[in-house]
Amino acid sequence: MTFSFKLDTANPSFFTITNKSIHDPLLKIATKRRSLGFKVSASSSSSSSSSSRSAEVFEEGQLERPRWSGETPLSRLVGTLISIKPLFSILKLGARQVFISTAEKTNIPWTEMTKEILDSDVYKELESIENPAIVYPDYYLNPFHAYDEGNLSWLAAAEADAATMSMVRRAIPNASSLEEANQIVRGNWLDAIEKHHQQYSADFSIRDILDIGCSVGVSTGYLADRFPSAKVTGLDLSPYFLSVAQYKEKKRNQRKNPISWIHANGENTGLPSKSFDLVSIPYVFHECPERAIRNIVKESFRLLRPGGTIAITDNSPKSKILQELPPVLFTLMKSTEPFLDEYYLTDLERVIKEAGFANVQTVLTDPRHRTVTATVPY
Ligand SMILES: C[S@@+](CC[C@H](N)C(=O)[O-])C[C@H]1O[C@@H](n2cnc3c(N)ncnc32)[C@H](O)[C@@H]1O
Repeated sequence: MTFSFKLDTANPSFFTITNKSIHDPLLKIATKRRSLGFKVSASSSSSSSSSSRSAEVFEEGQLERPRWSGETPLSRLVGTLISIKPLFSILKLGARQVFISTAEKTNIPWTEMTKEILDSDVYKELESIENPAIVYPDYYLNPFHAYDEGNLSWLAAAEADAATMSMVRRAIPNASSLEEANQIVRGNWLDAIEKHHQQYSADFSIRDILDIGCSVGVSTGYLADRFPSAKVTGLDLSPYFLSVAQYKEKKRNQRKNPISWIHANGENTGLPSKSFDLVSIPYVFHECPERAIRNIVKESFRLLRPGGTIAITDNSPKSKILQELPPVLFTLMKSTEPFLDEYYLTDLERVIKEAGFANVQTVLTDPRHRTVTATVPY
């Protein structure tokens, strides 16, 4: 396979890569497939419900996964660049600057939001949240997202909310506001869950929800809003993220069913078997090695009641936008996400089936992300 690199003179920070190979194993047999999602109509309200959105189709690219991922020559080239220590340090700093400036350009007050958390009483929450007996998996102790201590720091926790908003903005760049982008990204994810559960477990309502990898509680809050009569639990490996989640929840109006927060490893939670109707795992797996992905899927199977639904949402290897990401951006991204290659190489649907799940469904719920749902057989 040969690539030609061409500097884009109109935008010298970007260069385009042309693949000249005719027999590319990544190329799909069908040249273009599309996947159904939903788009917010202009009149929709912020309390998202499927009826407020009109169906929209998000486009898939022509490959099974981006060329910059997995074991392609391009991916190896990027891997080699990242492995050069001085270059890695520069890339890491560059990535951080890009995260912050991109967020602030889209009116996400990253610096202000971070300061507000760091200057708050959030530190008091740690004592009630932290599980001192926890043994962190080795992958979790590496530098990550340009933080030397990965997710195990107050700075990472204070910046997580702004980073989450920025991720949503990036997914829907043409949205007129963050709220509209959230209605599409989070609304379509929740709709996909509801649709799946109604289709395959109609006779059985969602009473207990576990949100694995809940971070600072954004996904957990959306689940609690969509399923107000359910008991919702957010679980994460970072006690700092959980402290921010608990702190933010305390500051908002009390819910009828307050959210519980658990500091545990999603691979082995210690929670009772068959105790949940929905296990949600949003935006976690691209941060994990394949063994952790497999373990979390197996653990979810154990935790769900028969008829229960697993819902995983994360980067879609088939997303046209991700497949066509400019080299500068994918190189920066790979420099802060050490397990992206493993994630893109993992056949998630297969892992789910091998764990025992049935009715595996995948849908592109926004231009960048897929939601994969499946059921524990009765
Ligand atoms: C990108 S964040 C998730 C964002 C959040 N779910 C949302 O949708 O806003 C990924 C989270 O996964 C957590 N995580 C990674 N590995 C984990 C594991 N084995 N068990 C529990 N949480 C894990 C990280 O600490 C981090 O908070």
